[in-house]
Amino acid sequence: MGGIEFRLKSFSKGESMRVIATLTAAVVGLSLFSFTSQMGAQAASAAKSTSGMEKVAQTPPMGWNSWNYFAERVDDKGVRAAADEIVSTGMKDAGYVYVNIDDTWEGERDASGVLHTNSKFPDMKALADYVHSKGLKIGIYSGPGPKTCAGYAGSLGHEEQDAQLYASWGIDYLKYDLCSFIPEVMEKQAPNDKAAQMKLMVAAYDKMANALKATGRPIVFSLCQYGWDAVWEWAPAMGGNLWRTTGDIDPKWDRIYSIVSQQEGLEKYAGPGHWNDPDMLEVGNGKLTLAENRTHFSLWAILAAPLLAGNDLPNMKPEIKSILLNKDVIAVNQDRLGKQGSRVYSDGEVDVWARHLAGGALAVAVVNAGSDRYSTHPFHLNLAKLGLHGTQSAKDLWTGKKIELTEGMPVELASHDVLMVRVEGKQ
Ligand code: GLA
Repeated sequence: MGGIEFRLKSFSKGESMRVIATLTAAVVGLSLFSFTSQMGAQAASAAKSTSGMEKVAQTPPMGWNSWNYFAERVDDKGVRAAADEIVSTGMKDAGYVYVNIDDTWEGERDASGVLHTNSKFPDMKALADYVHSKGLKIGIYSGPGPKTCAGYAGSLGHEEQDAQLYASWGIDYLKYDLCSFIPEVMEKQAPNDKAAQMKLMVAAYDKMANALKATGRPIVFSLCQYGWDAVWEWAPAMGGNLWRTTGDIDPKWDRIYSIVSQQEGLEKYAGPGHWNDPDMLEVGNGKLTLAENRTHFSLWAILAAPLLAGNDLPNMKPEIKSILLNKDVIAVNQDRLGKQGSRVYSDGEVDVWARHLAGGALAVAVVNAGSDRYSTHPFHLNLAKLGLHGTQSAKDLWTGKKIELTEGMPVELASHDVLMVRVEGKQ
């Protein structure tokens, strides 16, 4: 299928460019693990921008997106069902708000260039009204090229018109995906000139950012261009609320772990209103074990990543629901300081991540990326490296129990499992 072929082609490029970008960010971004932050003031600032428009994404967006499970099978009925489940499962109360339709909703343009939905979505305005009637918000998908990644109509040459259309439907969130803009515009207009190609790309995102602003409607702007050209450096200034940092996620541990490793050094670019996006959640998808699902969710919390569930909500298993509904882990993700965590140290295949939270609290995630570590050879936690001095009382966020952290304490972890704790300040 053309769409898939295209996707693979662009991702292999994305990944190689991403390596360069990571190295650059690592050199520029090497900074000491610090307890101070000025982000609190920003997070606490008024919810309106200077233009008077409501500020969006002051904490990482939470919701659901159709792609990771349904892909091309998404339709009006499925989106309504997802909205219903978000309410009935308690996900809405836990903070999941956005119901996002990904690729494959698009139909044809009419003689005036107005884009219509395809037969899977008979009435987008009615669907948006339905989602809004549940107290939720609705998101949609497009791209700057002539076609989307799955080969449906993109926004090239119709940016203002599309933005106005979304606003008229009541859309609250746009994911804007690069795909065909690469061969159809960047490579055609600037053959063999990578720098010029990147300028075209940035301009295309800027164009849609402005078109969205011109609607006067607060719409979350999600950039999806796989992290090309250090997107974290330029997206916030144009009003990007989140930006993908890598190629696509898969419901497989190795892919999730590789994406996590690519987030290092990017923490300084995140903050209220503008977040690194390591891609949508795969919790409950594929053959991920419960430990892997837990670790995935824990790390997305530490990374201040958008929490966009990507599973089949009407058929969600109870153990998956309890992961997605873990209020303590969500609280780490949504912490009002808005400070993304980082990997503090690794010891063999065990990684120790931490995130500073409002009120001087600290979230710590100890991840066993390798094989099991039982009492014969457990991992020993180094509190000093985390800036913690002496015994700490903490909460284990997966058992809900109190836990005492002592210097050098042994931590037994099954393969791909996590110990996630929260230490209240003042350590
Ligand atoms: C790209 C994106 C995915 C998804 C698909 C849809 O692969 O990275 O997240 O939106 O396109 O075609």
